[in-house]
Amino acid sequence: MNKLVDVLKIVILSVLLVAMTAMFAGAADLTRPGLSNSDCVKCHTAAPDAIAANGGAHKTQVSCQDCHAGHPPTVKKIIPVCSQCHSGKPHYNLSGCVRCHSNPHAPKIIKLANNITDECITCHTQQIVKLKQVKSKHTNLACSFCHNVHGKIPLCTQCHKPHGADMTAADCKRCHQAHMPTAVTYPSDTTNKMCSSCHKKAFELHAQTDTKHKGVNCVTCHKDKHKTIPTCQSCHGAPHPARMLARFTKCADCHNIAHDLNRWDAGTLKAGEKDDSVKLPPKKGAKKK
Ligand code: HEC
Ligand code: HEC
Ligand code: HEC
Ligand code: HEC
Ligand code: HEC
Ligand code: HEC
Ligand code: HEC
Ligand code: HEC
Ligand code: HEC
Ligand code: HEC
Ligand code: HEC
Ligand code: HEC
Repeated sequence: MNKLVDVLKIVILSVLLVAMTAMFAGAADLTRPGLSNSDCVKCHTAAPDAIAANGGAHKTQVSCQDCHAGHPPTVKKIIPVCSQCHSGKPHYNLSGCVRCHSNPHAPKIIKLANNITDECITCHTQQIVKLKQVKSKHTNLACSFCHNVHGKIPLCTQCHKPHGADMTAADCKRCHQAHMPTAVTYPSDTTNKMCSSCHKKAFELHAQTDTKHKGVNCVTCHKDKHKTIPTCQSCHGAPHPARMLARFTKCADCHNIAHDLNRWDAGTLKAGEKDDSVKLPPKKGAKKK
């Protein structure tokens, strides 16, 4: 019933407007029933509201009638295809524009299914390079699995527990990059505590030592990249005469490990006494605390 009334309204309106247009312009475009853009709102609310709120360029650069030429029943097919106006970029060759631009009256509001990758890389080219460069379990996830709203950056902690209780979501970036998460690197102000959640033993030994290595941070020795092991010489050069080092080839022979250093109190050497007079260290277990 209502439809019939609507249709009647259109017909009457159409006739009136066609007549008026004909009077003023002298000739009527028969494919257009003489409606103007300001008439649409009289019968339609959803589309004008959506355009008013989120129309973007579909509000400012085109009008209702640029997309909807004519009106039923005079013109039956008045739904435009996107390619009428959008062509010439790889993005415009995608199929099913309304899968993501689900409302053409609010074109920038984008809904994403959780399995989208190929479409994203028509515009974003860097991330896929990283994801493939360092293969990880993130490589096989779809972009929209993490970015489920366009432009939104997820927190790592949405999907993962921090390594330690006092580690926050903001800390993750210190060591991980989202698109190559297994290539762990860190800046020089990373605290020992950050390493302690996984390296309890090293952390405790190092915290307990009374040698000067206590004042050296984990990341000063294990610099920049996870699993880097420094040589003692990289900081100390050749601290003893070559002759001695030729006999005792490993620093560890006398100094134990870096976290729990045997310091060989320099006080036991008399002034002027040579380093190579140092005697072999006692057997294991007798090292100084
Ligand atoms: C007098 C009321 C009225 C006015 C004014 C009006 N419409 Fe409609 N419109 C209708 C009715 C009723 C239908 C449903 C017709 C149908 O399904 O056959 C409709 C359907 C449509 C459709 C859907 C067509 C389809 O294929 O699904 C579009 C698009 C549309 N109108 C756009 C417009 C635009 C744009 C304007 C302004 C230029 C406008 N209408 C002005 C009453 C109106
Ligand atoms: C950029 C092109 C474009 C513009 C501008 C546009 N539309 Fe549409 N409109 C569409 C497309 C595409 C559809 C089909 C949507 C779908 O299939 O879900 C549509 C559907 C409709 C429909 C039918 C479905 C519905 O949402 O009720 C109406 C009514 C409508 N438009 C009215 C309008 C009015 C009124 C305006 C101006 C205020 C307007 N449109 C502006 C492209 C446009
Ligand atoms: C009658 C022409 C026309 C049609 C049909 C049309 N558009 Fe547009 N659209 C434009 C113009 C003009 C712009 C602004 C210039 C540009 O970005 O290309 C625009 C911009 C856009 C934007 C960016 C909006 C913004 O505010 O920056 C999106 C997204 C968009 N269109 C999607 C679509 C989709 C999806 C369809 C099909 C459902 C469609 N358009 C159909 C003319 C059209
Ligand atoms: C998989 C989802 C998806 C599909 C499918 C899709 N788009 Fe987009 N589109 C987007 C995203 C995301 C943006 C970026 C929005 C932004 O810039 O904020 C975008 C932006 C746009 C823009 C504005 C920016 C530009 O580069 O011009 C237009 C126009 C557009 N799309 C048109 C289309 C058309 C036409 C189709 C179909 C041929 C289509 N889109 C299919 C997701 C999609
Ligand atoms: C049509 C081109 C286009 C498509 C398709 C597109 N984007 Fe975007 N994207 C943009 C533009 C433009 C911006 C805003 C400018 C910027 O920050 O680079 C943006 C921003 C983003 C941002 C925020 C960037 C930041 O620095 O805050 C993310 C995340 C993003 N897009 C992810 C995606 C994902 C995931 C997809 C696929 C589902 C996608 N984009 C599809 C064009 C696009
Ligand atoms: C939307 C969910 C989600 C978000 C957000 C997310 N991840 Fe993941 N991540 C996963 C899934 C799923 C896996 C695979 C788990 C599995 O198979 O055990 C994974 C695996 C990983 C792995 C192991 C990789 C491997 O190959 O062993 C690391 C490291 C990782 N994520 C770090 C991060 C970091 C850091 C962030 C933030 C920058 C982050 N993730 C954000 C879902 C997510
Ligand atoms: C495991 C979840 C996850 C996956 C999968 C993922 N991202 Fe991201 N993405 C993130 C996180 C987290 C950030 C924030 C990184 C930061 O702040 O350092 C981000 C940042 C971005 C940015 C902002 C700029 C940048 O590079 O930091 C863009 C654009 C982006 N992602 C696009 C993509 C695209 C395209 C894909 C698919 C090829 C993708 N992302 C896959 C989680 C993910
Ligand atoms: C101090 C550096 C550091 C920080 C900060 C850090 N991570 Fe890690 N993360 C690592 C290292 C190192 C690995 C182990 C890599 C390996 O196994 O080779 C790892 C492994 C992971 C893994 C995969 C193995 C597992 O434990 O499940 C996930 C997931 C992860 N980190 C998420 C996070 C999240 C989420 C945050 C922030 C809350 C975070 N990381 C903060 C260094 C860090
Ligand atoms: C998420 C847990 C995790 C975090 C956080 C973490 N590591 Fe590791 N680390 C590991 C794992 C797992 C290994 C491999 C152990 C193995 O191979 O036996 C490892 C190995 C190492 C190794 C090399 C061991 C060898 O024998 O080659 C060093 C050095 C190291 N980590 C230092 C650090 C430092 C410094 C930090 C803090 C910046 C840190 N790690 C943070 C998990 C972690
Ligand atoms: C990243 C640089 C670095 C590395 C690598 C390093 N050290 Fe040190 N070491 C230091 C610093 C800094 C001091 C304190 C120097 C000072 O204050 O005079 C020190 C002090 C020492 C001392 C004197 C301790 C004391 O308390 O008087 C000994 C012995 C020593 N290191 C041995 C080693 C051995 C053995 C290794 C390898 C297992 C090593 N170091 C690796 C930086 C390093
Ligand atoms: C002064 C330099 C230095 C400092 C400071 C240091 N390390 Fe080490 N670390 C080394 C060296 C050198 C090795 C190789 C074994 C050795 O000679 O002691 C090593 C070995 C390791 C290993 C592998 C062997 C093991 O003990 O499990 C881990 C893990 C490690 N360090 C973690 C840490 C953490 C965590 C910290 C901070 C709490 C730390 N390191 C502080 C120099 C250092
Ligand atoms: C044969 C045992 C022995 C070996 C092997 C050895 N040291 Fe020493 N080192 C000592 C003794 C004893 C002292 C304390 C006496 C002194 O200060 O010369 C000492 C002192 C040091 C000091 C502190 C010097 C200062 O001025 O405070 C450093 C640093 C050091 N050693 C580094 C190394 C490094 C690096 C290696 C391996 C290249 C190494 N040592 C190998 C026995 C040894």
